[in-house]
Amino acid sequence: MSEHKKILVTGGAGYIGSFTTRLLLEEGYQPTVLDNLSKGHRQAVGEARFIKADLLNKPQLESIFREDSYDAVMHFAALASVAESIEDPASYYQTNVTGSINLLEAMLDCGVKKIIYSSSAAVYGNPEETPIPESHPKNPINPYGETKLAVERILEEAVEPLGLGYVSLRYFNAAGASQDGTLGEDHSPETHLIPRILLAALGQIPQVEIFGTDYPTPDGTCIRDYIHILDLARAHILALEALSPGKAKVYNLGSERGYSVREVIAVAEEITGFSAQGKKIPAAQAPRREGDPEVLLASSDRAQEELGWQPKKSSLEKIIHSAWKWHKEHPGGFAE
Ligand code: UFG
Repeated sequence: MSEHKKILVTGGAGYIGSFTTRLLLEEGYQPTVLDNLSKGHRQAVGEARFIKADLLNKPQLESIFREDSYDAVMHFAALASVAESIEDPASYYQTNVTGSINLLEAMLDCGVKKIIYSSSAAVYGNPEETPIPESHPKNPINPYGETKLAVERILEEAVEPLGLGYVSLRYFNAAGASQDGTLGEDHSPETHLIPRILLAALGQIPQVEIFGTDYPTPDGTCIRDYIHILDLARAHILALEALSPGKAKVYNLGSERGYSVREVIAVAEEITGFSAQGKKIPAAQAPRREGDPEVLLASSDRAQEELGWQPKKSSLEKIIHSAWKWHKEHPGGFAE
C-alpha cells in the first residue's frame, strides 16, 4: 500500500461512496466516512468510522480536519440527479460547488493536498465524437453537469498556486450491486433506468417509462455506457496510487459498450426470467426527459493505460444479475 492510508470519504454513505468505502476497508485502508445522510444510508457505511457532517457547515469541516490527520480525500458527496438539477439549479450549485469549495479550503488549510473527485460524463453534454475521450470539449447541457465541470475547473486552479494534487474520475452510468447481495442502489425516489426496470419487474412500480423513442439511434432510444459499481470502486483505489501533490489527472470510467434503453430492458427480461415465461416487464413509451444526451459512450483508454484499470465486471448481464439479486433480497432497500 502507498503512503495513502487514512482517507476521508465524503458521501461515503451514498451509492458509489459506500462501495468504495467497503473496498478501502478490504484493502487495509482506514476510511472515515463523512455524510449528511440527506440521500445516503447509515447502514451502507458498514464498519467504517462515520461522522455525520455537512459540507455546507464550514466550521464543522474545519474542526474535522483539525482533529485528525488524513492522507487524502475522496469526494463523492453531491446532489446527482439531472432532472432535479433542472428544477432546482441553486441547490445543485450550493451543494456541489460551494460544498466542494468549503471542503477544499478546509483540507488545504490543514495541509491535506490530495483529492479524488467524483466527476461525470455529464461534463461533455451531447458528444461531438463517440467514444468520448477526456480531451472532448466540455459542454454540459444541464445544471448538474455544469456543477461537476465548475468543480473540475476549481481543482485545476488550485494545482499551481496551492500544490493541490487531484484525480478527477468522470463516471459514465454506474450500476449493479455487490455479488453477495448485501450492498446496492437505494435512491428515493429512484430515477435510474436499471433499478426502475427491476422495480417494475418486482411490481413495486406499475411500469418503467421509456423516455424518448425518437432519438437518432438505431432503435430510437438513448444509448448509455453502464459500468459496474465494483469496477468503479476499484478505479478509486488505483487512482489513490496516482495521487501526488501538484499533479492533476482526469480519467473517464466506462465499459466502452453502449446499450439502448430498449436493449437494457431486453437483457433484464432475460435475467429476471420474464422471457423464459413469455412475459414482458411492464414498460411504456414516454416523451424525452429534459437534459438527456442521446448517446454517452466512454473511451477509457487513458485509465486502462495509466492506472492499469480494467472494467472486468461490466458486462450488462453481470450488472443486471447483481442488481436483480439486491432488489429481490432488499425490496425496501436499506430501510428494512
Ligand atoms: N431512462 C428511461 N426511463 C427511466 C429512467 C431512465 O428511459 O425510468 C433513460 C434515460 O432517459 C437515459 C437512460 O435511461 O437515457 C439512463 O438514465 P439514468 O437516469 O439511469 O442515468 P443518466 O444517464 O440520466 O444519468 C447518469 C448519472 C448521472 C449523470 C448522467 C450523465 O446517474 O449522475 O449519467 O448524463 F449525470
